[in-house]
Amino acid sequence: MSTLPIYPFDADRAIGTVIEIAGNTVKVNLPQAAAPGSRWHHGHQLEAGRVGEFVVVESGHAAVFGRITAVRLPERERLSVEEDLGGRPDVHPIGIVSLVASVDLASGKIEPGVPHHPRLGARCFSAHPLLIKWLAESTRFADTEGGAKLLTLATLPFSSETLIRVAPESLFGRHCAVLGTTGGGKSWTLARLIEEAGRHKSKILLIDPTGEFHTLNGPHIQHIHVNSDSAAEQRGSFEVVLPYKRLLEGDLFALFQPAPQSQAPKLRAAIKSLKTLHYARLVSGNPAKYASHEQAARALLTQVGEGRNIPKPESTRAPYENASRAFAELIDKPASEFEIAALAEQIQLECCWPSGQGASQNRYGGVHQGDLGYCINLVSRVEQIVSSSEFACLFRPGDKKDILMDVLLPFLANDSLSVLVLSLKELSFSNNIREIFVNSIGRQLLLFGRKNKLVSQPLIVFLDEAHQFIGKSLGEEGSKLKLDSFELIAKEGRKFGLTLCLATQRPRDIGQGILSQMGAYLVHRLTNPEDREIVERAAGDLDRSAAAFVPTLAAGQAILIGTDFPIPVTLQIIPPSTPPKSSGPRYQEFW
Ligand SMILES: Nc1ncnc2c1ncn2[C@@H]1O[C@H](COP(=O)(O)OP(=O)(O)O)[C@@H](O)[C@H]1O
Ligand SMILES: [Mg+2]
Repeated sequence: MSTLPIYPFDADRAIGTVIEIAGNTVKVNLPQAAAPGSRWHHGHQLEAGRVGEFVVVESGHAAVFGRITAVRLPERERLSVEEDLGGRPDVHPIGIVSLVASVDLASGKIEPGVPHHPRLGARCFSAHPLLIKWLAESTRFADTEGGAKLLTLATLPFSSETLIRVAPESLFGRHCAVLGTTGGGKSWTLARLIEEAGRHKSKILLIDPTGEFHTLNGPHIQHIHVNSDSAAEQRGSFEVVLPYKRLLEGDLFALFQPAPQSQAPKLRAAIKSLKTLHYARLVSGNPAKYASHEQAARALLTQVGEGRNIPKPESTRAPYENASRAFAELIDKPASEFEIAALAEQIQLECCWPSGQGASQNRYGGVHQGDLGYCINLVSRVEQIVSSSEFACLFRPGDKKDILMDVLLPFLANDSLSVLVLSLKELSFSNNIREIFVNSIGRQLLLFGRKNKLVSQPLIVFLDEAHQFIGKSLGEEGSKLKLDSFELIAKEGRKFGLTLCLATQRPRDIGQGILSQMGAYLVHRLTNPEDREIVERAAGDLDRSAAAFVPTLAAGQAILIGTDFPIPVTLQIIPPSTPPKSSGPRYQEFW
């Protein structure tokens, strides 16, 4: 921590005197607060009693920082500002100042709270913008400023020439949340952060649910998208897929939504059958590696021939049962290694009696019409989903690039790329596919992280509209899929070099569990009291005086809170050079 950049008690910046002290608030005489306009001092605007303004109060060898939360006139002077009533302008306004932190003048050490209270008669000064800058930026990296990699994020709302620069460690090191109601400026802030981080050799994956970040450009930015999007392609983006083999059984259940009692067991059995068949072919193709399984594989393949399904009704049970026992370990692997195109038919084949009568006991029984009846709508759902173009990015990967192996890994290894923008604009909203898709990407990233692939390439995942993808469960009781991969990243990603920057207008929907893992918050305007409360609780050190300003922030203004930022300061985020373009309904054009 460096020492104060400027002497805080400059007589020219004095604005008043302490007249009452109680707990963390002091009352101050602010004789100039009723003067119209503000003064200028050495090129900096000098306020003298504006609500929200930062002030410094003398307190022995310390400077106590506070924020003016209210200004008023004594009751008897209430009418004297009414010039129409013949009032005199010499009034004696009083300000309420909420004290937030003190700074030891000699060492520059900042202590939250107020260890030494100011005394009556202590003078109160308007805080110089450079002091606020120092407080806002005060981080472990301040000393190395010359060489440190910093992000020029914002200015001060009342001092547009005072740039606020923050260290990426302070902002992203323990995950970052950008919160605020719609229109508060979250997406612009993400774009600004990405532009700034992109000036360095950063690695950022931006998951863009609406496609509004197509505007980001530069040689270090690569755009990719899912499902065909010709406009994106014209701008140089290319299509990527997430082959369904990466999905887990739980993902498939959330997609196909089987009824828990009648359909789920058949879906599970069908997946197991097809996995057994897949591994039988794998084993027989590589007998040296799987010598002990070869016999079982050969017996099953003799029964199946070239087919893609395991025949069940009235077929001999032994080949399948032996093979599925022999490959149990392979089958238990979470990946969905099987031929998905055969799934709908396999579900129907599972609808048979467990065994035949008399001499046919070694065979499965005949078709179970009842089960078949129950499963018929599942069968058609699976058929429709697997063949639909909306789900092509999972089920018909063709020769398109696999987002993980063909795109993300090369991106991490490529020194000249720093930002990867994934547009989900064309991804359907049906059958939870967006949630499953994003959750699955999170899961893969965590696997990368656990394999230590990100230690020397720390990756920051930016997720806009995060409430859509985090903190809920999909599907029915018994086969519920919890969308928890980002929560896991929040909990354990740091140590692998994997961190998050989430933006959301509904903090209450993403849950306290994940919010409390965040090391930094950029809070734009938030009006819903529940959301504000969640934020206050999660960011324990957001002092109440700062919280009071959250509903009144203008677009693009945000309060920066974090373990590395001693005082929550209101910032004016610098607009990105190419802002995201979300196209709402264009009434003017079309009406
Ligand atoms: N830093 C900023 N400076 C100036 N205006 C901004 C800034 N951030 C946002 N705005 C204004 O607010 C609007 C909404 O911003 P946006 O980032 O899309 O909000 P959100 O993502 O929170 O819904 C923008 O179109 C822009 O006019
Ligand atoms: Mg937005």
